[in-house]
Amino acid sequence: MNDLDKFSPGLDGVVATETSISFLDTIQGEIVIRGYDLIELSKTYSYVDIIHLLLEGRLPDEEEKKALENSMNQRYELPATVFEVLKLLPEQTHAMDALRTGLSVLGGYDDAIDDRSLLVNKERAYQLLGQIPSIVANSHRILTKNAPIHPDKNLPYSANFFYMITGKKPSPMEEKIFDLSLLLYSEHEMPNSTFTARVIASTQSDLYGALTGAVASLKGNLHGGANEAVMHLLLEAGTIPNFEELLKIKLSRKEKIMGFGHRVYMKKMDPRATMMKEALKHLSDIKQDYLLYRMCEAGERIMEREKGLYPNLDYYAAPVYWMLGIPIPLYTPIFFAARTVGICTHVLEQHAQNRLFRPRVKYIGERHVL
Ligand SMILES: CC(C)(COP(=O)(O)OP(=O)(O)OC[C@H]1O[C@@H](n2cnc3c(N)ncnc32)[C@H](O)[C@@H]1OP(=O)(O)O)[C@@H](O)C(=O)NCCC(=O)NCCS
Repeated sequence: MNDLDKFSPGLDGVVATETSISFLDTIQGEIVIRGYDLIELSKTYSYVDIIHLLLEGRLPDEEEKKALENSMNQRYELPATVFEVLKLLPEQTHAMDALRTGLSVLGGYDDAIDDRSLLVNKERAYQLLGQIPSIVANSHRILTKNAPIHPDKNLPYSANFFYMITGKKPSPMEEKIFDLSLLLYSEHEMPNSTFTARVIASTQSDLYGALTGAVASLKGNLHGGANEAVMHLLLEAGTIPNFEELLKIKLSRKEKIMGFGHRVYMKKMDPRATMMKEALKHLSDIKQDYLLYRMCEAGERIMEREKGLYPNLDYYAAPVYWMLGIPIPLYTPIFFAARTVGICTHVLEQHAQNRLFRPRVKYIGERHVL
């Protein structure tokens, strides 16, 4: 067979790169992050530990973790121009589009933008991990004509992010669940957005450009946008019988149900979804409000029976964010903020072992002789 006849639509099953960052091991059922299973990590470690693990290649000790928290606290502030630009955007701008714009603006403030060395890129990644939550939380506030909330530098990283989003300091339980969601979203091998970032980085373009492209990719409903779509579906239904009915109607019309299926897990439950489901149960117990939990379980049963499909992380992250009081337009930007560390790590790796991405096509058009 000619090389040009090998074609896998959507690059399904195609190995795009070598990496020592992460791997979805579907045989062992593990999400391998720098050698550790993400689900096991989530039981003991926090999101900041995962930042260290991804960017430094190993888990931090107590001192290193404290130092990282402290250094992140110094990196939240944004150039005033970012807010000025966001204020110019039309009110209906999606928070992901505002994030894309805000990120582009940041690139202009980097005096060393052409320096792709590992050291400078890593420092840039830490800086962006401070600044992106500030853009995410405040873009929504600005678009809805509310005053920005400045970071509370005394709060730990996830608690501060939650505070800037909701204007409220989280309870220990809220902080733990929000932190868990960030950890679960942090890195996941080679989804479309990470691939996009690596493709951009492979031209030796900069980290801001790679992340900006990744924001556009992650916004789509087939990727990160699914968490917002799930919440709209649950709210549209409002009750368990309505939700069951809605899913059946959509399936009969051959529509995709958001929050179900996954290119790699397809016929298995995403292990991250299991963790978020437990978190939803916990929130439901505390609030003594089981409606969303039961609706989700009913949806899960229907999808298993009718399609043999299982929930992905977005299916359970959506009701968890709802119960935490997070505005729906921020669900996907929060996913991106959490994934920033994973994508940055991939860009660093791409720059370090670069080969330009340039695939070929299977031409099915006509040929003409002039
Ligand atoms: C994630 C996703 C894009 C993976 O898609 P993919 O690997 O390209 O798989 P396909 O779209 O080719 O789907 C394969 C089959 O499963 C069905 N399927 C996949 N996901 C489905 C869903 N969420 N609802 C209904 N049917 C679905 C397809 O209709 C197709 O059925 P067919 O063979 O009878 O035509 C897909 O499952 C999806 O669109 N899910 C909903 C969006 C979502 O939750 N995205 C977040 C992913 S983390």
